[in-house]
Amino acid sequence: MEFCNQKKNYFLIKISTSDPGIYNQASTLKSFLRKDYNPGASLLVLVFLPENVDEILERFVKLFPGADIVETGLSPVPGTPGYEGLISEKISIISGLGGMMPKERQVLVKSFLSFGSGFHPTTRLCARLMERMFSGRMKDILDVGTGSGILALCAWRLGARRVLAVDTSFGAIKEAGSNIKANGASGSILVVHGSADCARPKGFDLVVANLTIGVMKGLAPSFPLLLRKGGHMILSGFVEKHKQLVLEKLESSEIIEEDELDGWKGVVLSEG
Ligand SMILES: C[S@@+](CC[C@H](N)C(=O)[O-])C[C@H]1O[C@@H](n2cnc3c(N)ncnc32)[C@H](O)[C@@H]1O
Repeated sequence: MEFCNQKKNYFLIKISTSDPGIYNQASTLKSFLRKDYNPGASLLVLVFLPENVDEILERFVKLFPGADIVETGLSPVPGTPGYEGLISEKISIISGLGGMMPKERQVLVKSFLSFGSGFHPTTRLCARLMERMFSGRMKDILDVGTGSGILALCAWRLGARRVLAVDTSFGAIKEAGSNIKANGASGSILVVHGSADCARPKGFDLVVANLTIGVMKGLAPSFPLLLRKGGHMILSGFVEKHKQLVLEKLESSEIIEEDELDGWKGVVLSEG
């Protein structure tokens, strides 16, 4: 089963804003379908037909140069519960409003107003790499920038004993907590408002971090210090031309594996 069925996809642009009115002009963009606003999360979702996606994004950025874009991506049936699709070879994401009991290899994402619906290539790269290299020896996992909690939940489904999920956004923490509860994983995943400095040095077998390049460059040097001997990092959120900027921050670590999806990179590194 492929994750996205092209025929049913829509293109979504999620924007963090407390004034959705300023985006009224977005309806003039080609392929615009509708917008949804969540006042609690200050999140506006613009929905487009999935035609000329790059052009839509380019025009959007020209129209609103200062827009705080949280996530862009293709969603099979935006906002519709009941969707199920693979994020990696074994784990599928199901969407719903709660009250569902996900099965062993399913992760329920009840709400994905924060980054982390599972549709973005960087999330999928992290999930795929984590699944490929996961072993029974990996007990403690740190998810830096957990967003909706999706990667923490994937780690838990793969068999992690304890997951620490951190994020600097209050909205993300709230949402991750709610998704984790909906999956019945609250006993194994601890969600904390903060960043990598909340984590215990040498306390983790795996650090997974899907972060924008600016944040990644700042945090990457701290990751090896958080790993136990023989531990690994899975990093994504950057494109090929920025990969070297990340690796420069991790000079004593070695690339074990890498992958690419739609121009985005994902790398697995040793502790160094
Ligand atoms: C690209 S999203 C990744 C979400 C999710 N892990 C996924 O893979 O789909 C990055 C997340 O990092 C969070 N973030 C940004 N700066 C951070 C920092 N310095 N420390 C921790 N989290 C941060 C953002 O709030 C956002 O939720």
